Amino acid sequence: MNSYVPYLDTALPVAERVTDLVARMTLPEKVGQMLQLDAREGVRHLVEDLHVGSLVHTSPARIHEAADLSRDSRLGIPLLIADDCIHGHSFWEGATIFPTQLGMASSWDAELVEQVARVTATEVAATGIHWTFSPVLCIARDLRWGRVNETFGEDPFLIGELASAMVRGYQGDGLADPTAILACAKHFAGYSETQGGRDASEADISQRKLRSWFLPPFERVAREGCRTFMLGYQSMDGVPITINDWLLNDVLRGEWGYTGTLVTDWDTVGRMVWEQQVCADHTEAAAAAVRAGNDMVMTTPKFFEGAQKAVANGLLAESALDAAVGRILTLKFELGLFENPRRPDLERQAAVIGVDRHAQLNLDVARRSLVLLSNDGLLPLDGGFSADESGRAAAPGTAPARTVLVVGPNADDPQTQLGDWAGASGQIDWMPNGQPRAMTQTVLDGFRDHVPPTWTVTHARGAGILTTAPDPEGALNPDGQPRPAIVVPDRPDADLIAEAVAAARGADYVVAVVGDRIELVGEGKSTATLELVGGQIALLDALAATGTPMVVVLISSKPLVLPPSALGAAAIVCAFNPGMRGGRAIAELALGLIEPSGRLPVSFPRHAGQQPTYYNQIRGQHGDRYADLPQTPAFAFGAGLSYTTIEYSDLRILTPTVTAGETVRAEVTLRNTGARPALETVQVYIHDVVSSVTWAVKELKTYRQVELAPGETRTVTIELPVDDCTIVDRHAVRIVEPGDIELLVGPSSRDDVQLRACFTIKG
Ligand code: NOJ
Repeated sequence: MNSYVPYLDTALPVAERVTDLVARMTLPEKVGQMLQLDAREGVRHLVEDLHVGSLVHTSPARIHEAADLSRDSRLGIPLLIADDCIHGHSFWEGATIFPTQLGMASSWDAELVEQVARVTATEVAATGIHWTFSPVLCIARDLRWGRVNETFGEDPFLIGELASAMVRGYQGDGLADPTAILACAKHFAGYSETQGGRDASEADISQRKLRSWFLPPFERVAREGCRTFMLGYQSMDGVPITINDWLLNDVLRGEWGYTGTLVTDWDTVGRMVWEQQVCADHTEAAAAAVRAGNDMVMTTPKFFEGAQKAVANGLLAESALDAAVGRILTLKFELGLFENPRRPDLERQAAVIGVDRHAQLNLDVARRSLVLLSNDGLLPLDGGFSADESGRAAAPGTAPARTVLVVGPNADDPQTQLGDWAGASGQIDWMPNGQPRAMTQTVLDGFRDHVPPTWTVTHARGAGILTTAPDPEGALNPDGQPRPAIVVPDRPDADLIAEAVAAARGADYVVAVVGDRIELVGEGKSTATLELVGGQIALLDALAATGTPMVVVLISSKPLVLPPSALGAAAIVCAFNPGMRGGRAIAELALGLIEPSGRLPVSFPRHAGQQPTYYNQIRGQHGDRYADLPQTPAFAFGAGLSYTTIEYSDLRILTPTVTAGETVRAEVTLRNTGARPALETVQVYIHDVVSSVTWAVKELKTYRQVELAPGETRTVTIELPVDDCTIVDRHAVRIVEPGDIELLVGPSSRDDVQLRACFTIKG
């Protein structure tokens, strides 16, 4: 008997191994291979009866069982184990949890983001997981949406830079690298263009609008080799993304030549039946999903029956499954899973998970993620300190003793610091107590550990944010997923406020830490308002009234509307879920042990009714304000202060006339006018003076991060390819249009801080 099995022969090219294996598979095995099911209820049935190709949310305890079962299956096809390790290894106890994507984006530092992804991949790969559902390339538009924290903010260029870096970091030196994991660009495309911020609602979006803003970051990572794409939940022009032939086949696979693997989002095939009601049953839905070119179907168990019935009824040719199955198997062969299924490796885990060098990187990222939004000079406290060897502020000479009150519901809340998709954020059931408390330094911990030895840190909670009540509609959604509980805001508590006020009166400084909490964040948890919930506004009002100088620290998942008592505080620091080391970074910033350098990747509104507030809006409207409010944001995209001032002058264009294919070159002079160093983010926008179609008022095109010592003057060179100076014309084609372009250079997107100079593109 010939025992040679070509698909097991590592000497054969992957394509031949795939062809051999697909030819041996039965229809149920092919359908199962296309399925990725939820492992939380157990794995035996999924592997033995449904022949699944992949699992999601597999607890550490179940990974070995699943690997054993697939090894013992008829063809021994290994599983792809996937999870949402989106800012660190979210659901692994003791892993390094970084700031959320929005926090990382505030660093504007692609290299740093690449390092985060590399470290995450190293930790994840050691635990038997092969695939992370990250990065998110959605554009934050309506801030009421619950998933703003998962984005890199509102700008397509910045998103592209950071997403590309993250994909590089995850995929390492290629899939043969044992520390590489598959990256997944999601949610393709337009998912964030919600109506009223409602999660996964119909996206009212034209193909031209998609091409203008939503597709460019995806196109970039598709061309750069991101191995998988996840499709959004929503529909556009009446067609769910899952079966959007134009987007998936004409654009992604056609124009961009994408050969990677597509995974649906959670039960989007089933949703076409029970939610969007565009398919009569799972047979029809399965046939439509396969025909549209989906490879892996996430958490629709009924796809197993549905796809087989579709073949039996003649709705689908069996061969239609082969391409999808082939793409999944290609990933498995390229990862080498047939030879080594990359099971959890205890030795590697001990060597990499949560180790000090990862915690150090995490601290660096947390520091870089903080954005100083306002400062009347109170910060750094007492003029700032330098650190001793332990990192504590060592009081120079005879620093007077001070008392700092660290107050507020987020002052000592580890889960809010980590944010969504981490530990006890609600998606998985094996970490009810979240990540180990000792790994997270809250703001209170940070101050206690880092103030000068002569200082005293006091603490009061001051206010609650919310409690929850069960959704009266029932415990589960029709897809079997739990319905998020309903938020019941806390009332201001007179006793808590009185205690905080008394402590504030006895303090030299108040650090008030406010924001949101996990119940206001995430899938299906969009918010109608953007205000501080519960007793927080009353607390801030009462603290402000004491007259003790106050720093407001916002730890939140997204920009929130700040009340006058916060806007009038001596300083405001924004920290978008800054991760395990965030509390230390915040204390260091307040004490001047580090320099503030973050810049907002998303605008802060003054009022929820201003939505949307993104800076790159299309020009043309009557007037520029509401009758009762300006339209300008409270804090603009790109804004952020240093502990010094950087003066911009003398913007000069060296190439006043250019043509397509050339590079615009310019220079600008920067001077650090103060006594402290700065890391300045020099932002370069363009404004197309006359365009053949209406277009954005301005667009970020490039930026540079420059260190400036106290008193230093530097000339910064700007280079901008003319081919990046595009618009999308009326036929939805991206073109370079001849004409005048203004180059806008400055420290943020705000008109009043930018220098302008003009160049001309010749036709
Ligand atoms: C649904 C979310 O939309 C997606 O981002 C996530 O990756 C999957 N669930 C898997 O958890």
